[in-house]
Amino acid sequence: MLKLNRLTKRFGGLVAVNEVSFEVRQGEIFAVIGPNGAGKSTLLNLISGLFAPDLGTLELLGKDLTQSPPEVRAWHGLGRAFQIVQPFAEMSVRENLLVGALFGKPGTPMAKAKAVVEEVLELTGLAPKADTPAHELTLLEDKRLELARALCTQPRLLLLDEVMAGLRPAEAMEAVELVKKIRASGVTVLFIEHLMPVVRALADRVVVMDYGQVIAEGTYAEVAANPRVREAYLGRSA
Ligand SMILES: Nc1ncnc2c1ncn2[C@@H]1O[C@H](COP(=O)(O)OP(=O)(O)OP(=O)(O)O)[C@@H](O)[C@H]1O
Ligand SMILES: [Mg+2]
Repeated sequence: MLKLNRLTKRFGGLVAVNEVSFEVRQGEIFAVIGPNGAGKSTLLNLISGLFAPDLGTLELLGKDLTQSPPEVRAWHGLGRAFQIVQPFAEMSVRENLLVGALFGKPGTPMAKAKAVVEEVLELTGLAPKADTPAHELTLLEDKRLELARALCTQPRLLLLDEVMAGLRPAEAMEAVELVKKIRASGVTVLFIEHLMPVVRALADRVVVMDYGQVIAEGTYAEVAANPRVREAYLGRSA
C-alpha cells in the first residue's frame, strides 16, 4: 500500500526525519509511536505531501508520488484526519461531509458525493446528528466528524495524527471500535498515537521513532519488550 524509502526531512541543522524506511501492507492498521519530538508528525506531513523530503522516495500502491502535491496524493487514495478539528461551524454535519466528498476528491459527481456521505454517516454513527450544526457537537462527535470528513474523500490509506487526543479512556475505546470498522470497510490505516492502550488494541504492526529514526518495528508486544524502546521512553519521562 505504502512504501517509504530513506525518507528524510531537515529543518536547518535538525534532522527531524532521518532516512525512514518501512512498508504498510494493504488492509493493515499500522501505528507510528515515539517520544515527543521524535518526528512522527513530520513523517505524516511527508507522507501527505505537506512537506517535500530532502531525500528518499514514497510509493503509494506502486506509484512513485515523492514529487506529487497533496491533492494528487489524495486522488491516488491518500486521506488524512487532523488532530485539530476545524469544521464549518454553521453548517450541518451532512453539509460538512458533502464539502469533503466534493472537494476532497475533485471531479466527484454530486449524486456520488451524496451517496458517499450517507454511507459514511452510517459507518461513523453520525446519522442521528446529520442535520445538527457542527458547532453543537461534543468533542467525541467532533472527532467522529473529522474521521468522517476524511473518509468522504474515499481514501485507500487513511492517515491519523493523534485523533484520540483529549478523549476520556471510554471515549477513546469507542473511537478504537470505529477505526476497526473503517478498516473492515476496506481502508488501510496508518496512525500516530500517544495512548498505549489504543496502540495495543488497534495496531497490527508498530514502528517506533526516536530522534527522527526508526529504532524498532514489530507487533505491539515485540516493540514494548524492546530495550531500546523502553530506554527511549523512560529516558525522557523523568
Ligand atoms: N516546521 C518546523 N520547523 C522547524 N522545526 C520543526 C518543524 N516541525 C517540527 N520541527 C521539529 O522537528 C522535530 C520533530 O517534530 P515532530 O512534530 O515531527 O515530532 P512528533 O514526534 O510529532 O512530536 P509530538 O509527539 O510532540 O507530536 C522536533 O524537534 C520539532 O521541534
Ligand atoms: Mg506530533
